[in-house]
Amino acid sequence: MGANIKATTSERITRIELDRADKKNAITADMYQAMADALKAAEADTHVRAVVIHGKPDCFTAGNDLKDFLERPPSGDGSPVFRFLQGISTASKPLVAAVAGPAVGIGTTMLLHCDFVYAAPNARFQMPFVSLGLVPEAASSLLLPMLSGYHRAAELLLLAKPFSAEKALAAGIVTEIVPEADLLEHALEVAAGLAALPPASMRMTKALMKARYASSVKEAMAAEGEKFRAQLGSAEAKEAMQAFFEKRKPDFSKF
Ligand code: COA
Repeated sequence: MGANIKATTSERITRIELDRADKKNAITADMYQAMADALKAAEADTHVRAVVIHGKPDCFTAGNDLKDFLERPPSGDGSPVFRFLQGISTASKPLVAAVAGPAVGIGTTMLLHCDFVYAAPNARFQMPFVSLGLVPEAASSLLLPMLSGYHRAAELLLLAKPFSAEKALAAGIVTEIVPEADLLEHALEVAAGLAALPPASMRMTKALMKARYASSVKEAMAAEGEKFRAQLGSAEAKEAMQAFFEKRKPDFSKF
């Protein structure tokens, strides 16, 4: 599969690898599309029992490609990012993530939809939506307060600073911290364990756990999406993103 995403299936496990090291695995529309397609194929293939999502040993992902945000902003429900979010939030099979290095923006929020999240001690999480002039996505405005409690969620979403694997573990975003050298192997072993269990029971148990808030997740994503798209066109978002590429501090004093 092209588009800087490698998707492979073997031994009943689909592996989705982010593969754009020179740009810190920043995710373009084409990459969202490829990941959405891989999730759809895994969902449709009755042999597939689990999905593992990972990046490089020193980088999970720098989040949405900021150039894409400026030049090709997502337009609505049919956009690749929305298809990816739909796929990840409604997957019936277990999702396992292995996170090392930066996990920015959607690199953190996608984890809220995974069933198992393993992080290396070098993992560095961040949800910089507010500092980019944007709002949270992937239903994180609903799921994070639910998972971490309001005050912890407020700190992570409103201050928008990077945080460590320990902090992510304490916030309930991470299942376990695993040494860097064992990270991917560990995630694959967990996926193999899941793949060996009865598939119908596995899917039903996941569905039962998610059923209570499935419709709220959908509603949150729609509400966030509307505000997110509006903010993408805002002067504050433009200032934040231009400042990133110009390697300077943004100036929000004029807004
Ligand atoms: N979109 C587009 N390009 C990105 C990017 C992104 N989200 N993140 C990194 N890159 C590019 C940089 O522009 C740079 O490109 P260049 O070599 O052509 O100059 C390259 O990737 C390496 O990034 P750099 O910032 O030099 O790496 P770093 O190790 O110093 O920092 C990060 C890594 C992830 C902390 C930093 O790149 C970052 O903060 N990225 C932006 C994250 C972000 O705001 N994402 C959007 C969330 S909604």
